[in-house]
Amino acid sequence: MATQKTKNYTQFLELRSEIDRFDLELTKDFKSQLSIVPFLSRKVVSFQGNKDKPAYNWYKYKEAFSAGLVAYFLSSYEGGIQGTVLDPFAGIGTTLFAAKEQNIHADGIELLPIGQEIIQTRLLLLKGLTSVEIATLERWIASQPWKECPERVPFSTFRITEGAYPSETAEAIERYKGALQQETEKIQKILCLALLCVLESISYTRKDGQYLRWDARSGKMRQGTKPFNKGVILPFASAVTTKLKEILSDVTSHKTPTTLFPTVQTESSIRLFKGSCLEILPTLETASYDAILTSPPYCNRYDYTRTYALELAMLGLTHAEVTSLRQEMLSCTVENREKDLLKICSNWSPFIEAANNQKLLKTINTYLEYEKAAGTLNNNSIPRMVRGYFSEMACVIGECFRVLKPNARLFMVNDNVRYAGVGISVDLILSDIARTLGFEVEKILVVPGKKGNSSQQMGTYGRVPLRKCVYVWRKR
Ligand SMILES: C[S@@+](CC[C@H](N)C(=O)[O-])C[C@H]1O[C@@H](n2cnc3c(N)ncnc32)[C@H](O)[C@@H]1O
Repeated sequence: MATQKTKNYTQFLELRSEIDRFDLELTKDFKSQLSIVPFLSRKVVSFQGNKDKPAYNWYKYKEAFSAGLVAYFLSSYEGGIQGTVLDPFAGIGTTLFAAKEQNIHADGIELLPIGQEIIQTRLLLLKGLTSVEIATLERWIASQPWKECPERVPFSTFRITEGAYPSETAEAIERYKGALQQETEKIQKILCLALLCVLESISYTRKDGQYLRWDARSGKMRQGTKPFNKGVILPFASAVTTKLKEILSDVTSHKTPTTLFPTVQTESSIRLFKGSCLEILPTLETASYDAILTSPPYCNRYDYTRTYALELAMLGLTHAEVTSLRQEMLSCTVENREKDLLKICSNWSPFIEAANNQKLLKTINTYLEYEKAAGTLNNNSIPRMVRGYFSEMACVIGECFRVLKPNARLFMVNDNVRYAGVGISVDLILSDIARTLGFEVEKILVVPGKKGNSSQQMGTYGRVPLRKCVYVWRKR
């Protein structure tokens, strides 16, 4: 027994030192590409940078990056680009709308219906509003017609969203949905956008990375957890009318050169592909894009289908649809099952092999399996998630390489992560895979001031800084 224990401990030490060695080797290998860039503040690489930007700040998508970041890489970086940019993980469309401002065509792929809805409604608004439409929205703001509406249209809920609103708010939402049926399709879309934008603020919940946090006033406390108070829960009427006013003012304001209506109207177009980029990328034409600018989900266990459950329920998705959506998302939660990547595209063997043969990743995978067998992981599906994340990302990278024109660049924002006490250099591993698949790794731009890791990890292993980077790869 003791011998077995010693053997196990020796294996543990060997794996840890191998990980350190391969990580150091890769760090040395990419030494001349790694550089800290003061311009890339946390604000610029995150939604924070959009806080004061009209239209970009309507819906708080915490996972978004800023329009300023897009402008920098598409217009300033190394002379900028012309032509068409692609974002395979488009979110709420920051790349698409910010590219349009630079007169660059943009294609986006997005799987999550809330992102799709925000993009589609913003696209509708790009066409502007007629005086009748403006008058209709003003009437909604001034006289709040839902209050008198006898018809109530119920909204769906899932187990994790039941009881999310105070009862008077739930009733007001149903009447609002009832009243908006009288309006044109475009007005309905705008009213629905305003509703989606305020859901969190009128609910008992707060988006919190891996899940929805519940305010104690909901009566839905989990046993053994500290009572949580999210602060003011806005009444429905004031929240939704404030949002409608904001949207209306941004769309109709000619004083401020809003990002929605740039002073110079550009002719460039935006196309949205709805679905998984794993399915859609293989259908795109080879060598057709002048740049790719994207930020995939990070390998951090964040589950978008839970975080955005209120919005998905309001959009009418069923529990079964959300469950299947979760599996279609790029694997980054412990609930993702392994995807049959070769079934999606039979040409992907070299991409999957590139991930399987990456030395550092291979050792990390062995180490995580070892920790799983030892019973020390806080979730036994972490090894599957990490393996899935890199295999799927290798396929995305391979496809991105194919659809880029020669010499075109790919810019990717991503975070490193940490599991079982081991930092995973996502930046180095993905860059090495990209290099194997034909990219030249031009730069790995590091965001100044490193980020800590999850509270669980910090408690167990102490605060270890993790890099957040923008990778710049070029198709040679
Ligand atoms: C980090 S966010 C990108 C945010 C975006 N840069 C923005 O500013 O709004 C990653 C996005 O990838 C989407 N996503 C996850 N899996 C996907 C898949 N298989 N295909 C397409 N999009 C996916 C998520 O829904 C999420 O919106």
